[in-house]
This record gives sequence, structure tokens and C-alpha cells, in this order.
Amino acid sequence: MNLTIKKFLKHVLDRKTITRLKDLLYWFDCKLIHFASRTTVLTRLYYLFWSSEFTREMYAVINARRRYLFGRVGSSPSSFILRRNIHRLEKGLVMKPRREVFGEGYIAETVDYFKYCLAEDALLSSERIWATSVLQEYFRTVTSTPSIRQAEQVFIDCLPMIPHASGKLDHKPFSVSSLINVPVSFDDFERLCAQRHSVRSFAPIDVPRELIDKAISVAMTAPSACNRQPFKFYIFDKADEAAQIGGIPMGTAGFSKNFRCIAVLVGDLSAYPFEKDRHIIYIDASLAAMQFQLALETLGLKSCSINWPDIDRHEKLMASKLKLEIFHRPIMLIALGYPDIDSLVPYSAKKAPSDVTLG
Ligand SMILES: Cc1cc2nc3c(=O)[nH]c(=O)nc-3n(C[C@H](O)[C@H](O)[C@H](O)COP(=O)(O)O)c2cc1C
Repeated sequence: MNLTIKKFLKHVLDRKTITRLKDLLYWFDCKLIHFASRTTVLTRLYYLFWSSEFTREMYAVINARRRYLFGRVGSSPSSFILRRNIHRLEKGLVMKPRREVFGEGYIAETVDYFKYCLAEDALLSSERIWATSVLQEYFRTVTSTPSIRQAEQVFIDCLPMIPHASGKLDHKPFSVSSLINVPVSFDDFERLCAQRHSVRSFAPIDVPRELIDKAISVAMTAPSACNRQPFKFYIFDKADEAAQIGGIPMGTAGFSKNFRCIAVLVGDLSAYPFEKDRHIIYIDASLAAMQFQLALETLGLKSCSINWPDIDRHEKLMASKLKLEIFHRPIMLIALGYPDIDSLVPYSAKKAPSDVTLG
């Protein structure tokens, strides 16, 4: 229900009547859900005329698509198109057997976009080295066709814009043999995972920024769809800020006041041109979040994931605090810090493998 109507009703009605009204609305909503869930047409009507729960997401997704499709106009380019295409090329390079000609359908777009990003100085240094290495390897390996030759010329024209391009750039496919000897035993890893528990009480000690940065560097080794890594960590490591930001979601009532440091994971929906991929930011960021939390454990820090509620009022508040665009979506928060040694931790019994394994 509209916030202004809610405020007005609170003003003119007593508590009991408001509760009765809420119960009635809930009952009516249940009836509607029962009816609307029968067909997709009825579901559409339900969301069109009754529930606005998905409106913000739709608005965010369509704005993200606009940013992706017309990002070149009026704003600095994002590197997502390039990251995706470079990754497609490196996948082509490792295919067994490798095709003689591959990437022909998108190599022109890739080098054009590369040139454009270089001219706009819109690439991270890691992106510049990675893209240059992969493109060098691609043109060295692929069997040339007229369109590939044309693209290669565009790439060659770019080289003066790339520092150290004449040197050895080796961010290209490498042998799997260097990944075989795992330096961590299963037992050690199991102990680390078992030690991680959600801790909600923190000691009044500042968290050194170097430790957070170390954990983020481990988080960023996580897999992500097409290696886009479409998320950022917003860090608040001053106690008052951490308590304020950590108090915005609903799930921190009663314990946000003692936060010493909070990370807000924010996804960027403009990494994708189509609705079908709108969930990927949540998957990618969550994979990184898990690695982040395990890394914190190894550094003597504890953490607690915090749910981000998709509620307009909360979204607006967080967006204004973090200066987010509409296509930037908070995914989750992570409270972290040194634990208050005198506090308790919920047991949180886990399911057994047999409870969750099928087939
Ligand atoms: C996505 C997600 C959201 C969570 N949100 C909250 C939250 O809002 N408040 C809270 O106290 N704990 C929250 N938790 C922590 C869970 O309650 C906790 O992970 C779970 O009970 C298992 O306990 P453990 O983390 O100690 O293994 C969240 C965890 C996850 C993964």
C-alpha cells in the first residue's frame, strides 16, 4: 500500500482498526493469490492491478538494459561487453579440439569496443592486460578470414594506446597442470567451514582495512558468469556508519548498534542485455560473499550475512546513502569484525548430505 495512504490511515484510525484492516487485506490477498496463480494471464493481472512488488525490479532491469544497449551515449562506457567477448574468445582458445575459425561473429564488435574503451580510458588495468593478451593469442592462433583480418587491423591500430603491449602479456589460457596440487587438505577446509558461524556481537575494536582488502582479493577469485564480476563491495568501517547502514535492513533489529564494520554487496544489472540473466548478479555476488566470509575466518574475523529486503522504502534509503543508480541492486550485507568473546552463537543445525542429495 502507498506510504502516504498508510501514514494517513495511521493518523485517523486507532490501532485495533488498523490491525483488523491489515488482516482483511491479507485475507483478500490470499484469495487473489489462490485465483491468480492458476494461469500466467491472471498472474499478470494480479501484478498489474494489485501488487507492485515487482515494479522496482522491472524498472531496474529495463534501465539496466538501456545502460547496456546505449551505454555509449552520454556516459562513460562499461567494460561488461568486452569482458564477455574476451571470455568467449578464451573459451574458444581452450576448446578441445579447437576450431580453426571461431569468434568470427563477434570479433569485430570486440575490437571496436576495445578501441572505444581504450580511447575513453574506461578499462581497469587488469582488463587491459587480459583483453590484450587474449586478443594477441586469438589472432596468433585462429585461421584468418577477411573479417578476422579486418578486426586484427583494428587491434593492431590499438596497440600504441596500450602500455607495455610490446612486452610479454600472459593473461591468456594456461595449462591445467599448474592447478592440480591443492595446497589445502580436505580436513583443513572442512574445519574452516565448520568454524564459520554467523556472529552477531562484535568487540569494540576497529577492523584493519588491510584485512578487509585481503579478504576481498580472495572473494574476487570466485567464479562469475562470463567472468563479468558484476558487483562491488561498499565498505563502512567506522563504527557509527556501520551501525547506521547495518540498521537499514530489517534483519538486524537488536544487534546493529554494535556493528564495527559492514560490507554492502551491490550488483550491477547493466552487465546484461536481457531479462533472462537478471538473477546472475545474485549468484555471482553470493559465490564471492562465501569466499569473502571464509577468508575473514582465516584472518581471525567473524561475520554475519544479512538479508536485503526488496522493499521500496529500504531500497530508496540505501540508494541515497550509497549513491546508487536504479540498475544497481543491493544484494546482501555482511557484518564483520572481531567477535565479542562473551557472546553466544545460535546452533543452527545443518541438514545432512543424505537430506539434500537426490539420485
Ligand atoms: C542470505 C542470508 C541472509 C541472512 N540474513 C540474516 C539477517 O537478516 N539477520 C540475521 O541475524 N542473520 C541472517 N543470516 C544468517 C543466518 O541466519 C545464518 O547463516 C543461518 O542461521 C545459519 O547459521 P550459521 O551462519 O551460523 O551457519 C542470513 C544468512 C544468509 C545466507
